[in-house]
Amino acid sequence: MTASPTPSLTSSPEWKSLQKHFDAIKNVHLRQMFADDPQRGRTMTVEGSGLYLDYSKNRVTAETISLLIRLAESVDLQDRIEAMFTGEKINLTEGRAVLHTALRAPAGSTVMVDGVNVVPEVHAVLDKMSAFCDRVRSGDWKGHTGKRIRNIVNVGIGGSDLGPVMAYESLRHFTQRDMTFRFVSNVDATDFAEATVDLDPAETLFIIASKTFTTIETMTNADTARTWLIEGMGGDKSAIPKHFVALSTNAEKVSAFGIDTANMFEFWDWVGGRYSMESAIGLSTMLAIGPQAYREMLGGFHEMDVHFRTTSLDKNLPVLMGMLSVWYSNFFECETTAVLPYEQYLKRFPAYLQQLTMESNGKFVTTDGGEVDYETGMIYWGEPGTNGQHSFYQLIHQGTRLIPCDFIAFGKSLNPIGPHQDILIANVLAQSEALAFGKTADEVRAEGTEEWLVPHRTFKGNRPSNTILADAMSPRMLGRLVALYEHNVFVQSVVWNIDAFDQWGVELGKVLAKNIIPELSTSASAELNHDSSTNELIRRYRSMK
Ligand code: F6P
Repeated sequence: MTASPTPSLTSSPEWKSLQKHFDAIKNVHLRQMFADDPQRGRTMTVEGSGLYLDYSKNRVTAETISLLIRLAESVDLQDRIEAMFTGEKINLTEGRAVLHTALRAPAGSTVMVDGVNVVPEVHAVLDKMSAFCDRVRSGDWKGHTGKRIRNIVNVGIGGSDLGPVMAYESLRHFTQRDMTFRFVSNVDATDFAEATVDLDPAETLFIIASKTFTTIETMTNADTARTWLIEGMGGDKSAIPKHFVALSTNAEKVSAFGIDTANMFEFWDWVGGRYSMESAIGLSTMLAIGPQAYREMLGGFHEMDVHFRTTSLDKNLPVLMGMLSVWYSNFFECETTAVLPYEQYLKRFPAYLQQLTMESNGKFVTTDGGEVDYETGMIYWGEPGTNGQHSFYQLIHQGTRLIPCDFIAFGKSLNPIGPHQDILIANVLAQSEALAFGKTADEVRAEGTEEWLVPHRTFKGNRPSNTILADAMSPRMLGRLVALYEHNVFVQSVVWNIDAFDQWGVELGKVLAKNIIPELSTSASAELNHDSSTNELIRRYRSMK
């Protein structure tokens, strides 16, 4: 299906107004903006779904925000949001609805896909997952030899791994501590070997997580897991049903692999891989935290969905964050955004966001097949604070590039020990303050610094950031946070008129790798027909085997 051509974004009056406005304010310092409007720290904030967003330390004025909102209106953002929630096939290149929001819709609500209400199916799978998790967690589900299952190994990659790992780490505080959770993603055998080195096969359950059940990394790891398990069971293949379950949309492939479809938890093609952590792909999460906490997480997702769908654009957290990203990407020409959680449990959140943001918005083709004449998805990266402060923050403070930052912090620690939390929070507040306001040469001099050192110790400031402050990490909070970024990504894609839900860019490498695999065999005799570099590297690799 092809969409009708859309008018050029950059020649729209809304874009041009923003360009003019940008030229007028691009050099205004945040010091000046705060001096001009001392209330900014109170007025440039929004609260929704338990998250407080302070966006006052951004290089924006009230006029910028209203121009950005006008741009959002000009691309019919509100209609596009509605189109997503109501199951329109907005994933144009794959002809699919995009309904991760249906995964967290409350029982009894209605979300139609091709004339069918999918909410009952979603809840049927949730119920099946809950019953299974209760059995495993209580010890009722036993391994083949009668031993209790104590180890869960999730085998998946991309969206079938990053969400589960991130959720497990984020919610570790709430996990059943007498169970061990491991995640195998890389086709590098070391990943599998290290994940299983100390596990007893009789106590181990493998979750094979793959939407398509064709991904070579996951299928290779799943084969290796099956061999490992059977060997560990003295060659008894009948052990498989008690030790393998599958999460997939592809029942045929699951069955061909040898997993009984009774042990399969399904999801649907209207759930994108990177939007699937609360589908059946969340089985490891549910095993870790239990069905009730899992449903609380879904509740958090849903709260943010409701906020996104119903709140006016200028008070809407994902809309504001998305439009600020457009502002920095397209007007300040920033290339990256740092996401910096001051919460150790969120240590894998930036890695998770990399797939969410970059696989979604790393596109140069518009929905109508044209080529953009503006930048699209920024590079997302980050590490938890305060660790990053002692590593890459130097560049954010004094480097030559402008890097907008998202700071994420919580009022309460789940491990309130001594002074740690105050020190942690003092640091996050100090970082955004230092980035915004810097330290002038005169201030440095006034401290008695020798003149030759003054330039080195000067901070220009005017480096933008958002601060998200919320109560404490919890399953519900995680749901809210993930949904915030999901919708933020969507907002950006609507402005850029790109399909945030396909990922054709990963295909070519997959196809080429399949061609190369047989050529790596030392007995391969066929002539190599790649470029001279690839040919030579293949020959060299063969000689190293
Ligand atoms: O890398 C491409 C991709 O299709 C991702 O979008 C997806 O999350 C990942 O591979 C894994 O796919 P699957 O769940 O089908 O194994």
